[in-house]
Order: sequence, then C-alpha cells, then structure tokens
Amino acid sequence: MFQINDNFQKLPGSYLFSTIAKKVAAYQEANPDKEIIRLGIGDVTQPLAPAIIDALHKAVDEMGNAATFHGYAPDLGYEFLRKAISDNDYKARGCDISADEIFVSDGAKSDSANIQELFSANSRIAVTDPVYPVYVDSNVMAGRTGTYDAQTETWSNVIYMPSTADNGFVPELPKEVPDMIYLCLPNNPTGTTLKKEQLQVWVDYANKNGSVIIFDAAYEAYISESDVPHSIYECNGAKTCAIELRSFSKNAGFTGVRLGFTVVPKELKCGDVSLHAMWARRHGTKFNGAPYIVQRAGEAVYSDAGKAQLKDQVAYYMNNAKTIKTGLAEAGFTVYGGVNAPYIWLKTPDQMTSWEFFDYLLENANVVGTPGSGFGPSGEGYFRLTAFGNYENTVKALERIKAL
Ligand SMILES: Cc1ncc(COP(=O)(O)O)c(C=O)c1O
Repeated sequence: MFQINDNFQKLPGSYLFSTIAKKVAAYQEANPDKEIIRLGIGDVTQPLAPAIIDALHKAVDEMGNAATFHGYAPDLGYEFLRKAISDNDYKARGCDISADEIFVSDGAKSDSANIQELFSANSRIAVTDPVYPVYVDSNVMAGRTGTYDAQTETWSNVIYMPSTADNGFVPELPKEVPDMIYLCLPNNPTGTTLKKEQLQVWVDYANKNGSVIIFDAAYEAYISESDVPHSIYECNGAKTCAIELRSFSKNAGFTGVRLGFTVVPKELKCGDVSLHAMWARRHGTKFNGAPYIVQRAGEAVYSDAGKAQLKDQVAYYMNNAKTIKTGLAEAGFTVYGGVNAPYIWLKTPDQMTSWEFFDYLLENANVVGTPGSGFGPSGEGYFRLTAFGNYENTVKALERIKAL
C-alpha cells in the first residue's frame, strides 16, 4: 500500500480564505438582498494598464507567426525581463544585483512555498506573528515544524516573533538562533514596515549567526516613505544572507496573469555550496518557465508608459488606503498600516475577538474583512481591511462602518 506524506495531515483546518468564503457565501444565501462589499482577500480590482495590454496583444500576435513563435521559455526567465528587473528594481536603487541572479517564476506564492526545499529537513524556521500563512504551511508540509498545539495555535519547532502594537510592529530578534528567517516587508497583514536601519539589524544578525533571510517584498511598490528600503539588498551584507521574493501581482495587477521572481545572489553560500546553483538546478528540474507572453507583459511594467500608468494604479489603491484609515480613525478605531502598504490593520473594538468582529461587520455593515487571528496567535484582537477594492465600494464600506 502506498504511503502518504503524513505532514499534510498535521495542517489544521482549512486555508483561512476558504473559511471566509464559506461564511460569506452562507450569509449571502440567507440574505440575498444584501449587497456585500469585500475588503478581505488581497486581490486587485483594477484592470491591467494599457501598456501591459499592448504588450500582451503584441506577444500573442508573435505566437501566431512561425518566424516569431516562442516555445519553451528559458527556465530561469528571458534575458529581456531579467535585465529590465536588474536595471530598474536593483541597479537604479544602488543594489548590485545582476540579471543572472534573478529567477523568473509564476509568482511569489509558489516561490515562497518552494524556497524551503533548499534547506535541510531539520532547519529551524522563524516567522513574524502574525504572518502570511504560506511560509509556515509549506514548512509543515516539509515536516519541519514539529507538533501543533491547537490551544496556542503554534508549532513546537517554529520560532514566533510577535509583531504587535506593543512593540510598534518591530519584532525582536529571536532568543534562539533560527536557520531560516521569514520577513515580509512591507508586511502582510499588518501593513507596517521597517526602516532601513531596522532592517540592517536583521541582516547583521543573520550574517553573524549563519541564518538565511527569506525576504518577501511583494508589496514593495506601495512604499511611500523615503527611509523604507525597497529591497533587502539596500542593506550592507545582505547578499551573503538573503533571498528576495518579488511579485508582479500587486504592483501591476498580475494576480490572474501570474509572474514573479526570486533573487538568489551568487555570494549566498552554505560552506562552499552556492544556493544560486541549487535554485537554478531546482528551477531547471521542476519549472519550465513563465509564459513568453506574460514575460513580455512583465517587461512592459518597466517601460516609460508602464511605469507612469502603474504609478497611477498604486496611487489609486493608496487613496483607498487613506480613505479606510482616516474613516476608521474618525469612527474611533485604532488603526495601523496603510502608509507603505495596501493593508489597514485595526484593533477590534470592545475586546471582540477577530472572528467576532468578522461576524459583526458582515452582519451589520455587510463588509468582509480578514480576522487577524487567521494570520497567527498575535493577530488575535486585530482585523485586516484591504485597499484593493474599487474606490466607490471603499467609500460605501466606510460609510456603513461609520454608521454602526
Ligand atoms: C506576502 C505575500 N507574498 C506573496 C503573495 C503572493 O503573490 P503572487 O500573486 O505573486 O503569488 C502574496 C499575496 O497575497 C502576499 O501577500
């Protein structure tokens, strides 16, 4: 009889967003006349920018002609895209990351889940709490997290680094040294971030202790403050301790198009083993490249027209963030985030738990958000709203919340 990977059996409950979707569907079925506004899931709502649509059309036409047809893409990504990324996202910010240190993929979710394959089964991971659930769950599947305690909602072999209002959303360095440290900045779900000198502390810690940092910069495009780093490679020494993940989902609306990349610097080594070579080997074996059409669309993100249009798109969402943040503050809520990220993290009122507030908001304002406890124990008592809705619905949602 075949045997399964038992680690999957350890995963508690269903994925957070499936639970939310089921609750919302049940409410809608019972109340068909109610108009529900969804500010829960981090999916974008604005259409792809014209420069991207043009690039997609052009690439589709190329595929219909034998002379310009493209088959399998290079599994590490087309040079035209890797060079555009290196020039615009790194060299323009003073980071010495070359095109061949960039691995193009179908998005940051898969990369953030797959990257753990490079590390030994007994590696100890550290995550901020609350956290994007993929980092922990992918390590559960790999058998790295120990046993789950349903009471505390924690894993015995995971180091949790609370990130709450009490520490100003600046997690403390862990007391036990982890092998892998996941940092997501700007942060999902709290919408907060670290300044450059605060991130430098982590880079120095990782280099000193021989840890590797998995740095998820999916929300980099939303940074508005000048002292917030866009890349971990803005910090000295990051090339010897950090892998960076990026996505085209939030800066360019590619959630349904699918494109991302991972940076593995050549200087990142374990003894004399290069992680760059390992990730290249892994990519070559398990991934056959992001589609040509999509990589051309990604290239258009860096064109002059693309940059201008996407700046407007980010500004549109950040205007929503401001609307939510100021509206909630006017209604008496304590709010965080929303300045360098499209997420607003609020303290639930009247000591309500995150799920109590979820139900309260759904039933009384017909607004859907995400319970903070779904992101980890330190998320209890908090709630996340996203700025990715359209403006009209965002305004309407806030009017309803203010009227509660
Ligand atoms: C922190 C973080 N990383 C990665 C992703 C996924 O990005 P992608 O759409 O590129 O898979 C998300 C999506 O919500 C996210 O919040």
